Amino acid sequence: MISTVQVIGIGTGDPGLVTYEAAAALREVDVFLVADKGDAKADLVEARRALCEHFIGDSHPYRFIEVPDPKRGPDAERDSTAYGAGVRDWHAARVAAYAAIIDQLPEGSTVGFLVWGDPAFYDSTLRIVDALRETSGPFEVRVHPGISAPQLLAARHAIPLNRIGTSIHVTTGRRLVQEYSPDLGDVVVMLDGHLACRDLVDQHPDLTIYWGAYLGGPAEVLRSGRLAEVIDELVALRAELREQHGWVMDTYLLRP
Ligand SMILES: C[S@@+](CC[C@H](N)C(=O)[O-])C[C@H]1O[C@@H](n2cnc3c(N)ncnc32)[C@H](O)[C@@H]1O
Repeated sequence: MISTVQVIGIGTGDPGLVTYEAAAALREVDVFLVADKGDAKADLVEARRALCEHFIGDSHPYRFIEVPDPKRGPDAERDSTAYGAGVRDWHAARVAAYAAIIDQLPEGSTVGFLVWGDPAFYDSTLRIVDALRETSGPFEVRVHPGISAPQLLAARHAIPLNRIGTSIHVTTGRRLVQEYSPDLGDVVVMLDGHLACRDLVDQHPDLTIYWGAYLGGPAEVLRSGRLAEVIDELVALRAELREQHGWVMDTYLLRP
């Protein structure tokens, strides 16, 4: 039975964005389990591998096991109930894939999960680790925070995420249009494959958008401006970037 699971927030791929605590945790791991999401996201697996080489080097022997990610259905075509059920099935398949590996590891091993950004933001690792406790536990769990995309977005634009004494609402592209109201305060949008904020332009043309893609990486791109004025450029730019890199991860802030 394994002894420990380290859940390590690694920022967005740049070693400069890894905390001292996270770097120390990397050096305690015997086996890293990394989801392999196919060719389009191979860059992200490589970024994780490079971080391990950078921080661990020869100081501690470790293995890096890529676990093929179970196929996930077409989220965009699902309503919220079907989406929730689809995600739950996908988690169950992921847990089974990880458990099959963990159960074969030497007694007392430390397993590491490298979480993009921070484990607290739209990441299923901690839910998966909880489920693994049931199938392959008991083991100790240690969580190390990382720099998340919203934090980097704010830093790169040199802005705070909130205005004085007001709220910050964090949501997904899927939920944005149905729940948007200026009363929410500043809204951070993640997991938006289609720039859903386009559908807010008619009613809220004066929103300011602060947008960033590939934050923290060599391909980082930033744009900001009045939503009604920049949205067409952003839609075209996002499509171009996706074409060029095979994937795009972007986050934005909408400020009334
Ligand atoms: C599954 S969530 C993971 C979030 C991550 N745990 C974090 O703390 O930022 C993926 C979403 O995070 C945002 N994201 C992650 N990496 C990013 C990056 N380098 N640049 C911009 N947005 C990013 C995007 O909104 C993307 O759709």
